[in-house]
Amino acid sequence: MAHNGKHALVTGSSRGIGRGIALKLAEQGVKVAIHYRSNETAAKDTLAKVRQRGSDGFTVQADVCRPDDIIRMFNRLKSEFGALDIFVSNARPEVPEFYRGPMDITLDQWDTALDSQAKAFLVAVRAACPLMGEGGRIVAITYAPGGRTGSWQAWVGMGAAKSAMESLCRYFAVALAKRAITVNAISPGWIDDSVLNSLPDVVQDMVRDWHVGDKGWTPMGRLGTPADIGNAVALLCSADAGWITGQTIAVDGGLSLMDAGLPLEIQRG
Ligand SMILES: NC(=O)c1ccc[n+]([C@@H]2O[C@H](COP(=O)([O-])OP(=O)(O)OC[C@H]3O[C@@H](n4cnc5c(N)ncnc54)[C@H](OP(=O)(O)O)[C@@H]3O)[C@@H](O)[C@H]2O)c1
Repeated sequence: MAHNGKHALVTGSSRGIGRGIALKLAEQGVKVAIHYRSNETAAKDTLAKVRQRGSDGFTVQADVCRPDDIIRMFNRLKSEFGALDIFVSNARPEVPEFYRGPMDITLDQWDTALDSQAKAFLVAVRAACPLMGEGGRIVAITYAPGGRTGSWQAWVGMGAAKSAMESLCRYFAVALAKRAITVNAISPGWIDDSVLNSLPDVVQDMVRDWHVGDKGWTPMGRLGTPADIGNAVALLCSADAGWITGQTIAVDGGLSLMDAGLPLEIQRG
């Protein structure tokens, strides 16, 4: 197996994309710490699936908005695994905790967004590094359009937070380059079996209609899956990816290649 004997921590791996990442790494022989905030049952279910794939790990609780919780999580990791090869920062608070436009967002909502991404990543990477040897891998899961655009008004807090995290990736990439530790961000397109499935049915239908099929906005004509993102993380964790660092990589079936200034009818040939 590609990563036999390695150890990983994937935040927010109780469900959704984080679970897809944890399961892919487990398939490759990685022992995985399954992190959750409140859904212990889901985290245990992910761990059971990790074990079905012939690997192992443990579950760990932490609110990533609280730096003390993050430090406690890494202390546990040290006592369980002793070392860390792969750290994936994937957790994101529930949408109502930060979802409001720039004229209305409360300072608490703003802090929740920024604390859960930028500050959490700063604290976690600094805690992860003493446990990592040469060739370690750090991956942040972002949503790059939220930081680049301004039209999804209620995403302002998370868009700013993800942008700050992407920027941190570049700075950490340089800081850790001498140790051959790579730091990259992956920006998924819209993913099934994730937060999408918890949105009102009408919203889910609108997102699916927009992307899926021959007339959908996403060139590949389908939503992504947590396994698609797990595959991309596994690629970045391979030895062959050792020269890729500081990048934000779209993993989106071609979604980010579309030109929002042109009608769909005159794109895609
Ligand atoms: N879904 C998409 O289409 C999409 C697209 C682009 C980017 N992304 C990014 O991908 C990542 C995962 O998204 P998802 O849709 O898979 O998420 P999700 O299904 O909503 O799962 C969120 C995860 O984060 C954990 N969590 C929530 N609040 C937390 C907190 N304060 N502290 C620590 N953990 C917390 C949850 O734990 P519990 O289970 O214990 O609640 C859960 O494991 C996010 O960073 C998101 O921005 C998603």
